[in-house]
Amino acid sequence: MAFAGYAPGRVNLIGEHIDYNGGMVLPAALSIGLEVELAPRTDGVVTVAADSYDEVARRSIDDGANGHWSDPAVGAVREARALGLVDGGASLTIRSTIPQGSGLSSSAALIVAILKAARDAGQGTQGDVELAVAARRVENDYMGVPCGIMDQMAVAVAAPGTAIALDTESLDYEIAVLPQSHDFVVLHSGVTRKLADGRYKERKLECDRAKAFFGTANLCSLEPEDIAGSALEEPYRSRALHCATEHRRVLAALAAIKAGDIGTLAGAMAQSHASMRDDFAVSLPPIDALVADAMTMGADGARLTGGGFGGCIVALVDKGAREDWLGSVLAAHPDARFVASV
Ligand code: GLA
Repeated sequence: MAFAGYAPGRVNLIGEHIDYNGGMVLPAALSIGLEVELAPRTDGVVTVAADSYDEVARRSIDDGANGHWSDPAVGAVREARALGLVDGGASLTIRSTIPQGSGLSSSAALIVAILKAARDAGQGTQGDVELAVAARRVENDYMGVPCGIMDQMAVAVAAPGTAIALDTESLDYEIAVLPQSHDFVVLHSGVTRKLADGRYKERKLECDRAKAFFGTANLCSLEPEDIAGSALEEPYRSRALHCATEHRRVLAALAAIKAGDIGTLAGAMAQSHASMRDDFAVSLPPIDALVADAMTMGADGARLTGGGFGGCIVALVDKGAREDWLGSVLAAHPDARFVASV
């Protein structure tokens, strides 16, 4: 018997690289997503058939991660076993409309969808937050990707078309109702995120250094002035400064969304991009150019979204102006492409 699981892709509207530094983030679930069918097995084997790969992967549930595309699936089934949801393996079939390597959380969606299917298979009582935490363990402990909790929470609890304002320390969240007048449009820059993992880890280690200096696990709770005036050397001081200022921008953006204040929301997005470029150093010149042109051509706000070093931008665009705006931006940036909107 097969059990189904689903998880959407996500785009982060604002709050970047602060989900492992104690901050607040604002990701939204997209209408593109990933479906899994899971049939439990008893022979200790995990098979994975995915519409994006010709081969069917066949792995032992006891395999370590080895860089193969099926690693997240194997890790998820191992986690499902640890939670008592499957005994000895699973046959998985995956259909996805989330482009990979774009920073839209295809891997978090895969792991969460498998865990949701396994929860049904094993009649588990775990809540979605517990599954999100388990999905992060797969990335952190099994795959060795030192990511935060944002992606897993977004794809486990947010309904497509809605955003969650997530406190990454307590995991409390509230649903944010997005503006009716505007769309958040996600464009792929055309720059793939080849080096993302190594540089992501480098940023994480830089933040760890800043945490040790200030004696806190939460860089976002520090006052930006205290960081700026501290004796912490560069680049650690700038990294910490991004965290503290980005957290405040998320709070400002959330208040602006509630008040229907597009100007303040757009300003927070623009400042977020500048901070990712200058203080956190995760942007690239072609992405800066795409963000700048997106704004010049009529977006109210635009910024790099996700881990950085490539991937997507998100632009806040008036619904009425959207089609003309999209045509102009894509004509000026032939490598860029439309991915989704919310
Ligand atoms: C990746 C990680 C997330 C988060 C973002 C940056 O998507 O998986 O945990 O850190 O980068 O905001």
